Order: sequence, then structure tokens, then C-alpha cells
Amino acid sequence: MKNQIKIESRIRPFNNQIEVSSDKSLSIRCILLSSIAAGKSKIFNLLESEDVINSLKALKKIGVNYVRKKDHIEIHGVGINGFNLKNKTVINAGNSGTLARCIIGLCSATNKKIKLIGDNSLSKRDFSRVIKPLNMFGVKIKSKKNLLPLEIYGSNLLRPINYEENKGSAQVKTCIILSAINTPGVTKIKALHSRNHTELLLKYLNYPIKIKKKNLYDIIEIEGLNQFNSFEYKVPGDISSASFFIILTLLSKNSELLIKNINLNPSRIGILKILKKMNANIKILNKKNYRGELIGNIKIKSTKNFKSINCPSSLNSSAIDEFLLIFLVAAKSQGISKFKNLDELNKKESPRLNIAIDFLRMIGVKIKRVKNDITIFGNPKLDPGGKYHIKKFLKDHRVFMMSVIAALTLNGKFIINDKDSIKTSFPNFLKILINIGAKIN
Ligand code: S3P
Repeated sequence: MKNQIKIESRIRPFNNQIEVSSDKSLSIRCILLSSIAAGKSKIFNLLESEDVINSLKALKKIGVNYVRKKDHIEIHGVGINGFNLKNKTVINAGNSGTLARCIIGLCSATNKKIKLIGDNSLSKRDFSRVIKPLNMFGVKIKSKKNLLPLEIYGSNLLRPINYEENKGSAQVKTCIILSAINTPGVTKIKALHSRNHTELLLKYLNYPIKIKKKNLYDIIEIEGLNQFNSFEYKVPGDISSASFFIILTLLSKNSELLIKNINLNPSRIGILKILKKMNANIKILNKKNYRGELIGNIKIKSTKNFKSINCPSSLNSSAIDEFLLIFLVAAKSQGISKFKNLDELNKKESPRLNIAIDFLRMIGVKIKRVKNDITIFGNPKLDPGGKYHIKKFLKDHRVFMMSVIAALTLNGKFIINDKDSIKTSFPNFLKILINIGAKIN
């Protein structure tokens, strides 16, 4: 089957209610933490995507079993430092930076060599950000230029560390937290605020972890080697997946959408804060607390008069996976929008800042770039017309899905390659779009 789709018309007005796929960050964290819990954990509503399937396969490689039941996955935790590895264990993290970076921390105390590999995209991403703190714990890691494949030699003589994380990377923070759990004594992290699902999950599990806020930082203290019990968890919907439908609705005419059961953790809703400032018609309904996470429904209505924004870079981390979509709104708003310090955006599954600029210029948007700051000159009447073939955007799932949303909300004929990339995070993305009326061939 062809790995491309064709979109030749805007989506017609719709009024629907949907659910999107489960949260990827939480799915991976539930898998990793249940592997070191004491006993069998039950995870409901786990995301069925390639990143998550690779996480489950990684568990098998380190001697942790799981069983797929009718409506959940049962993971047979082996306790802290209980992994049973064979010699020459190879873990393939596929496309997932989260799995790759976090599993090294999880395995920091194993006494067998682990080889960590990944796909082409992951093999271009920098691992120095986790190699550095892990070396301080006492883990030895061999690599060429901090790129995959890595050879990891854990240690049973780990020592706690004091570390300052300045990138606002939740992957790095989680890697350190997981390694700290394997380590006697108290590890201290001063981390630029980023998504905090790992911390909330550990708090829910009564793990001794303390968190204090200090300006833009979280000061985290974790006491190692405290065994926790197995748990049950129902993973809510992913705001990053919901975001494609939020933007679709905002940029379509006379449409309304209710997206149910979404994780609205404050460290993830940068997109909602930014869109609110831009005048978007979005309401949050039925908020509730689930195991420390905030969950609710999102009601979106088409919006005509978007205001431009001077986006505070303090929101960058909480909107990091959604900037491609936010730029589309800026392109259709009244006035000039500015976004600063977007260097991390170029370090994702593909260099997304470069790609977003190429994409927007291709459809006729005026953009100025100075280093990692961009200025988008909005045009509410943006109407590219013409024919486009999106084929060199590097198989990145979020780039594919953003291109689809652009094609469904702009006038023009689009052929978009790399349909299979949606399997990474949101396998039923196209199905949901078709259900609400999108014409996709
Ligand atoms: C993630 C953290 C973010 C995000 C990624 C998922 C996580 O990456 O972009 O999609 O689950 O921890 P960084 O930690 O590199 O910012």
C-alpha cells in the first residue's frame, strides 16, 4: 500500500465529540515504573503505538514479563535492581527518545552490558544530555560522539549526585530520577521546569521524593532504594494528540469539537495558554484529579480573529511538541508573532524548527529567523492555493500530522508522504479525521 495520502479540499463544518489516543509520556512511564514495582501492576488504556510497543519489548529484554489481558496490560514487576539480563542484551528503542533516555537510567545498576540502538532519526539525536549525569552516578557508557549505538555498563556501586538540568528536558530529568531510585542515598536535581508525570506517579506511589518550586526550577530530592508496591493506572488522553484536532477546529469554519478525557497537567498545556492569548475559543470542562494528574474535556469552537503573540519562552517546555501547530495559527493571525529560544525544537525526532520554517515558507508565509528565534508575519487571508507534495520532511509523525491539518484548513491540493509515521504516537489519527468528515485519499 502507498505510504502517502492526498487531500484536495478543506474539511467541511463539523460538530462532533471525540477521544484521542492515550498519553505517550504517561504510557511509557507506567511501563518503566511498573517494571521495578513489587508485584503485578495493571495498566488500562495504554497507548498502542510503536514507541510504547518498543517500551514493552525492552522490558522483555531486561527480564520483565507482561501479559496482555482483555482490557489492560499486566506487568510483572521484579523490584528495584531485580532485572535479569542475558549477556549481549540489545535494546532497540526505535524512534523513541523518551524510551531510550529513560531506560538507561532505569538500568543504571545492572551488571551486564546493554547495547542501545534506535532508528535513523534516533541515531542522529544527542545522548550527551543523559551520558553526563549517568557518568556521575558511576555508569560507564561507550559511544561515538554521544550518538547511538551506546554500550552501557551499569554499576552496583552507584553514588547519589547533585545535578542541574538546564534544558527543560523531562527525558533527562526522568532518566536521573530512575537512576536515583537504584542508588543508595539522596540524589538532588535542580531542573528547569518540564513535564512532571514521573514525579506525580512516584508521589502517588508514596515514594520518598520531595519537590520544591524555585522560580523557573524544580528542586527535587529522591531517596534511593525504597521499594514501592505494584499499582493500577488508567492512562488518560494525550494533549499532544488532541492538539491536532484543537487546531483543526479553530482554523475551520463554523465547527465545534468536544475532546474528552485529556490529561491537562499544567506542565503540558502550554499550547492552551498560548492559544488563549491569541484569542482562541477554547473551554475546559469537567476537570478532575486522577492520581495527581489533572484530567478534563476540551471544548473548541472555530475562531476568526486570531491575535498575534509575543510568546514568553517560559512556555516553551510546556508546548514543545505543539509548536508546529501553534505556528500555523500565528501564520493566520492578525499581526506579527515572535517565538524565542527554540533550539530544543531542532533536537526532536527531526529538526522541527528548520522544517516548520521550510513548510510555512512553502505555503507563502513570511518568516524571519535569527538563530533560534523566529518572527511570523501573520495573514488572516492566507490562501496558498496550488499543489504541494510534502515529501522531504523526514518521516516525523508530528510533521506528517501538522501537514494534514494544514491541508485540511487551507486552500490547496496536497500529497503528503510518510503516512506510516503516525504509528509512532497516534495510530488512529486519520480514522478519527475521516469520521468527522475529512476527505482523505
Ligand atoms: C517527553 C519529553 C519531551 C517531549 C517528548 C516526550 C517525555 O522531550 O518532546 O515528546 O515523555 O519525557 P524532552 O525531554 O527532550 O524535552
